[in-house]
Amino acid sequence: MKHCRSIEELGKEGLLRLLNSTDQMAEINRRPIPKVPALRGKTVVSLFFEDSTRTRLSFETAAKRLSAETMTFSVSTSSVNKGESLRDTVETITDMGVHAFVVRHKSAGVPWQIAQWTNASIINAGDGAHQHPTQALVDCYTVREALGCQSFEGLNVTIVGDIKHSRVARSNISAFTMLGAQVTLVAPPTLMPAHTNQWPVRVSHSLDEVIASTDVLYMLRLQSERMDQGLIPNLGEYGNRFGLTDVRAQKLQSSAVVMHPGPMNRGVEMHVDPSDLPHSLIHKQVANGVSVRMAVLFDALARDAEVNSLKEEVGA
Ligand code: NCD
Repeated sequence: MKHCRSIEELGKEGLLRLLNSTDQMAEINRRPIPKVPALRGKTVVSLFFEDSTRTRLSFETAAKRLSAETMTFSVSTSSVNKGESLRDTVETITDMGVHAFVVRHKSAGVPWQIAQWTNASIINAGDGAHQHPTQALVDCYTVREALGCQSFEGLNVTIVGDIKHSRVARSNISAFTMLGAQVTLVAPPTLMPAHTNQWPVRVSHSLDEVIASTDVLYMLRLQSERMDQGLIPNLGEYGNRFGLTDVRAQKLQSSAVVMHPGPMNRGVEMHVDPSDLPHSLIHKQVANGVSVRMAVLFDALARDAEVNSLKEEVGA
């Protein structure tokens, strides 16, 4: 794999390969010194035009644990403020000799556009409301680990909230269904995309109706920064109908797990404290983020010799 830009591009085979190699990376991360020389001599730049905490830091941590060099690009202190174009920024960084761009941008399609201007690998860390493939890898890996299953056949995954603006939802719908799960989307009509009838999903407007049959409850953040019109009457009303309240949490099956990609809006979509839930995977999602991104960077950047030496190191 040269690029990691969408779940569709990865396909089921790529998805499974990366999930399996995440197991090897997790093994490295359990060591007292979680670092291997696998990507020595490679340089990874994070090119984030949108805010991020966990995605950017987990990519940078992942690159360092594989011994790659890292560069961080910060829009607010860059020549973008002097009018430099995206193309000039990418070409300038390419000239410095980078091997991978980890890109986040508010416009859908930017990772594909950038790939026209550089020979480096492009890893999509979120493009508008389009794709966030490494988040979906994190989420599938976390469910697989928590439930101890390789296939998601028969698993009911319910994704709740601002589906319309969510790249996490789009990537997760593809990834979970590729692995056999049944995905149900729950949102008010104004936050549901128009074309869900072309997606392999069920649609509901009532969380109360579906919560009891849910195995994986995936809560989404209300993305106010992407809303240009009043799509919900008010936050209180939204929280009452679509938030995870104590009363609703009681309706979950005892085996059900709760997830959220973060950052969380407490008191909007999350009324309960996740640490009070018996099966919250929210901290696991963050922790697994590093191993998953190590697997992605390694897959994109390692040559055969490096693959073999890592296999020896982890005894695979
Ligand atoms: C998500 C994102 O930026 O797409 N966050 C993340 O990467 N963990 C989800 C969000 O911002 O709501």
